[in-house]
This record gives sequence, C-alpha cells and structure tokens, in this order.
Amino acid sequence: MKIVIRRITPADNPEWFKMRKEIWPDAPDEYLNFDMVDILASDQDAVFFALVDGKPVGMLEARLREYGEGCETGPVGYIEGWFVYPEIRGKGVAGALCQAAEDWARGKGCTEMASDTWLDNEAGIRAHLKLGYIEAERLVHFVKQL
Ligand SMILES: CC(C)(COP(=O)(O)OP(=O)(O)OC[C@H]1O[C@@H](n2cnc3c(N)ncnc32)[C@H](O)[C@@H]1OP(=O)(O)O)[C@@H](O)C(=O)NCCC(=O)NCCS
Repeated sequence: MKIVIRRITPADNPEWFKMRKEIWPDAPDEYLNFDMVDILASDQDAVFFALVDGKPVGMLEARLREYGEGCETGPVGYIEGWFVYPEIRGKGVAGALCQAAEDWARGKGCTEMASDTWLDNEAGIRAHLKLGYIEAERLVHFVKQL
C-alpha cells in the first residue's frame, strides 16, 4: 500500500471538514468550520492529508504553540488533530502523517513536538507512545458559567 502525504489545499475543504467531524462528532458544524480558512492561510499551521490510490484516508492538523505541556522549549510543534478512517488503521498512515508534521515543525526551527488526547483514547495513546512520544502530564479541564 503506497501512502502519499501532502499539504491540503482549499479544494480539500469538504473532505477535511468530514474528517474533523469524525474526530469531534459532538462539536457543532459552525465550530468545526470557523477556523478552517484561517488555518489554511496561516504559516503557523499545517494540515496534511494522507492519500491511498489518490483517495484521502487520513489527516493531521499541526500548529506551532508557544507552550506545550512537558516541553522545555518554545515554540513547539503541536498535533491538534489526527485522524485515519477505521478501515485503514494499523497500516502506518498515522505514522506517515506524524513524520510529515514533525519534519514541518523541524523546518520551523522546533526541537520538540507535543500533543494530547483523551484519557480513554487507548488507540490514540498507543499510537503516540509507539511513535516516540512520552506521556508528560494528565490534565483535568474545568468550566464555570459566568
Ligand atoms: C490514532 C490513529 C490516528 C492511529 O492511526 P493508524 O493509522 O492506525 O496508526 P498507525 O498504523 O500509523 O500506527 C502508528 C503506531 O501506533 C501503533 N498503534 C496504532 N493504533 C494502535 C492500537 N489501536 N493499539 C496499539 N497500537 C496501535 C501502531 O502499532 C504503530 O506502531 P509501530 O509503528 O511500532 O507499528 C487512529 O486510531 C485514529 O484516527 N483514531 C481516532 C482519532 C484519534 O484518536 N486521534 C488521535 C488523538 S487526536
């Protein structure tokens, strides 16, 4: 299976949106939509598509963040979103996407890459660990209505 990794273009927006919806199914469409144009225009962001036989099978959204939990330098590369369609998982697609994002961050002068996922996301945690990421912290997020 030949995996091709490339940066996304505006023409990829519908497919990109579909994959965002798969990662964050509970997020309203307006929320998933609102920053897509900005991300495409920003040199602090890079979105990669993985293609097999010309068909998009996964994506990774990377960004430069001033701070990453557990990091000693800044800015760092950060994996904001990472998705591979279920039927094609376990074949190295996420690894290839990750390598492209790390190369991009390295090219931006970063020496560290960081990421996060949900505590119950076993596959996500395993994939990070297998690809050389070390668990840095476990956080609890809080919200209060004002
Ligand atoms: C996490 C995810 C992107 C991994 O995609 P994938 O294409 O199956 O991953 P890969 O095949 O490239 O695997 C990368 C490494 O992780 C390991 N891995 C991946 N899924 C695994 C699982 N379920 N259990 C154990 N190890 C796993 C692989 O063995 C591989 O290690 P290796 O290179 O030593 O063999 C995919 O499961 C996914 O899209 N999940 C839903 C969204 C998500 O959770 N995203 C991550 C958090 S943002």
